[in-house]
Amino acid sequence: MKVDFERSGGERVSAAQVRELVGRAEEQLSLAYAPYSGFCVAAALLCEDGTIYTGCNVENSSYPAGNCAERTAVFKAVSDGKREFSCIVIMGGPGGRVDAYCPPCGICRQVLREFCRPREFSVILARSREDYRMFSLEELLPESFGPEFLDG
Ligand code: THU
Repeated sequence: MKVDFERSGGERVSAAQVRELVGRAEEQLSLAYAPYSGFCVAAALLCEDGTIYTGCNVENSSYPAGNCAERTAVFKAVSDGKREFSCIVIMGGPGGRVDAYCPPCGICRQVLREFCRPREFSVILARSREDYRMFSLEELLPESFGPEFLDG
């Protein structure tokens, strides 16, 4: 499915940028460390300055200690001094085979919410460079709690 700009708030991300991000996520997928679930996930996060950070899921023998691909990408970026993001591409599946769209878990949605304006940030679920669905973060996390609630 192609980009639905009307409802996505994704007009700030071009189709060429999405293709590049999907390419980066595809490369990252082979680095996923998922020996327990076998479910491999990769993400490519686009910063406002054009930099791209990739991430994969990193599981652990103590299961809750594992980390999702999206959070890996966000934490890499933030620990590198980046805090402004345009969109994230997510893809994954069993054994790294991407058949279905892979939506972000609730914890990752909340982590994205910390740094991204819900109406403007796009979450792109990709199966390939040509086949993806685009949502605003607000669509995936409506009525959300964020840092501004703690102001003052
Ligand atoms: N996973 C992600 O990396 N991102 C998500 O948003 C969904 C789930 C990972 C976590 C775990 O390593 C595997 O997929 C199965 O849940």
